[in-house]
Amino acid sequence: MTTMHHADVHLITSWARQCDGIVLDAGCGPGHWTGHLTAAGVDACGIDRVSTFVHHAREVHPGTPFKVGDIDAMPYPNAAFGGVLAWYSLIHHDPNDIARPLAEITRVLRPGGSLLVGFFLGEAIEEFDHAVVRAFRWPSEALRGRLVNAGFEILETHTRTGSLASSPKPHAAIIARRL
Ligand SMILES: C[S@@+](CC[C@H](N)C(=O)[O-])C[C@H]1O[C@@H](n2cnc3c(N)ncnc32)[C@H](O)[C@@H]1O
Repeated sequence: MTTMHHADVHLITSWARQCDGIVLDAGCGPGHWTGHLTAAGVDACGIDRVSTFVHHAREVHPGTPFKVGDIDAMPYPNAAFGGVLAWYSLIHHDPNDIARPLAEITRVLRPGGSLLVGFFLGEAIEEFDHAVVRAFRWPSEALRGRLVNAGFEILETHTRTGSLASSPKPHAAIIARRL
């Protein structure tokens, strides 16, 4: 079972409950946040490009819809969602290509919809090995700038130290509103 930090549980749950419309967990992995949100009474669904994660998510959370798909080209109509959770799922994108998933998230969010992005904090945009897959740390201000360029208004930035022995890296989260 994936460990959920109590601060993340509080942030994600309270954010999702304020979203007006369905919440998409973009890059949901095995679906633990999507399942958690459904159990908390939020109308949520998940998408991930790794089919084994999606099959696992469907088995463990049978009441929650999941799709196999790419954040860069999502199989949803425009303005389909009131919220998009991108929890450590944009960390694998090359920073030079981050505009693509951000444009796609903007497209599927209704105007006024909310985005919550979780990521590893760094003093510069820098690459590191994350569970054998390439990932990038971001300074908050750099990611905020990309979000503004993609048509978002920044509402909140949260940071916390990595208190888990398995994950000592500092964490950050940004809540942004689609204009
Ligand atoms: C570090 S995991 C985070 C999973 C989950 N959001 C969580 O917080 O535990 C990153 C996830 O993003 C997914 N992902 C990365 N890039 C993606 C893309 N372009 N399209 C869909 N899923 C993607 C990966 O397959 C993986 O499941």
